[in-house]
Amino acid sequence: MRQKRVAGNWKMNGDQAQNAALLHAIAEQAEKTTAALLVCPPFPYLLQAVAALQTTGVEIGAQDCSAYQEGAYTGEVSARMLADLGVQWVLIGHSERRHYHGEDNALLVEKGRRAVEAGLKPILCVGETLAEREQGLTQQVVAAQIAPFLEHFTLQELASFCIAYEPVWAIGTGLTATPEEAQAVHAAIRAQLAEVDASWAEQVGVLYGGSVKADNAASLFSMPDIDGGLIGGASLDAGQFLAIANAA
Ligand code: G3P
Repeated sequence: MRQKRVAGNWKMNGDQAQNAALLHAIAEQAEKTTAALLVCPPFPYLLQAVAALQTTGVEIGAQDCSAYQEGAYTGEVSARMLADLGVQWVLIGHSERRHYHGEDNALLVEKGRRAVEAGLKPILCVGETLAEREQGLTQQVVAAQIAPFLEHFTLQELASFCIAYEPVWAIGTGLTATPEEAQAVHAAIRAQLAEVDASWAEQVGVLYGGSVKADNAASLFSMPDIDGGLIGGASLDAGQFLAIANAA
């Protein structure tokens, strides 16, 4: 039985005061949730989250990391620095980074490589655009985003990965994939992973992201291949985030 995991991607939101209230509410309720919890604040607030959640079992993730180990890369944050802060996870290839920053699979494999070297657990984000879905290309697009990682990482390295399926057309739009739509893609993802190793494929957490809210989380998380969620907007509201966590 796979552990259900609910991760909050705060994106570029928050300030110290708002974060303190949100983190306190999560810390207060964390032990009552059966799902594994993870919060992904913006870089400047990672230490605040590490300090606020350090005894609660709630893990901390970064929203990105550099493709480089260290050196003359102004503005970048290395995976090693994140690990040094006590961060455990890192999002790789969120659609907003693929879209706004032109992150391609080759760069993302390098980011994944840095994350694994630093002992961080990657959450590989994949998903199709509305145009790709309307052309019936969803599973082809998602498989192509996953394939380079299956090629460049050993099974032992892949054991630390989670995958987040986030249909781009559902992110921030209120248009959630139906549980059946999401399940079909998650099952295809797991079948692709099984081509590498069936036992590993059964263990990998495959999260759904894209307008998950308290009122749709339970139906999504009830699907056999949906192992939790990667939550954007709703993760900024403690009540919503914890209600989603309790639905897992
Ligand atoms: O990474 C999670 C995010 O992309 C989903 O955003 O606001 O649709 O929950 P949202």
